[in-house]
Amino acid sequence: MTEKRKKSGEISRREFLRDAGLLVGGTAIGSTVLLAACGGGGATETVTKTVTSTVPGGTATVTSTVPGGTATVTTTVPGGTGVQTVTVTKTVEVPSGAGPVGLTEITFTLNGRVYTRLVDDSWDLQYFLHDIMGFIEIKTFCYRGACGSCSVIMNGRPILSCTTLAVNADGAVIETSRGIAMSGHPLVNAYIKNHCMQCGYCTPGFLVTSKALLDRNPNPSEEEIMEALSGNICRCGTYPAHIWAIQEAVAEGGM
Ligand code: FES
Ligand code: FES
Repeated sequence: MTEKRKKSGEISRREFLRDAGLLVGGTAIGSTVLLAACGGGGATETVTKTVTSTVPGGTATVTSTVPGGTATVTTTVPGGTGVQTVTVTKTVEVPSGAGPVGLTEITFTLNGRVYTRLVDDSWDLQYFLHDIMGFIEIKTFCYRGACGSCSVIMNGRPILSCTTLAVNADGAVIETSRGIAMSGHPLVNAYIKNHCMQCGYCTPGFLVTSKALLDRNPNPSEEEIMEALSGNICRCGTYPAHIWAIQEAVAEGGM
């Protein structure tokens, strides 16, 4: 998981499992832990613990820390030495959104190919497509919906993938700059001929936004082009070149 993911403050399933500590009679024990999924509002957690140390017979206190608080349960365990199993079921209140996130299976079409993947409910689409699926052409200048570099076309509209949840891509048709380039769209040659990129970092976002514009308006005016591209930021200042490229693609591509 990248650093930007860690900054979100979410509790991963791995961390949740790791943090669900369990003590029996004050003895720390290593073993198998099984946690049932927690829902928002109220959550039921089942803890199964294999004891590998001497446990006194009688009553023992089992404490487990979960998101939303600490639960303490008193239970009876058999005495003796050897491997013993203690099972505790408890219910704790977990504030909505504070519990571990779930996984959702989604199916979507990306650049003409159908994928089915499990996604964490907290993942944004940029992280999923870029970091998990390897579509590294989807950039991030700002990661907060202000620069357009993460733009992809989803269901015919340009969207900011950094502010879109990956689970919302279920059933969607998505196109990235890679798909546009592989399709041989007239914009690609026009971008090259008009030197639309200097460092090139913003270029995929511009290309995606330009393609979406031509899909819905095959012959846009200069004003319409400027308005369509107004959400894309270029630190190198290539703005006029994108207007020329779109106009050239319209002229040469018979849009
Ligand atoms: S990275 Fe998504 S808008 Fe800037
Ligand atoms: S070409 Fe460098 S940021 Fe746009």
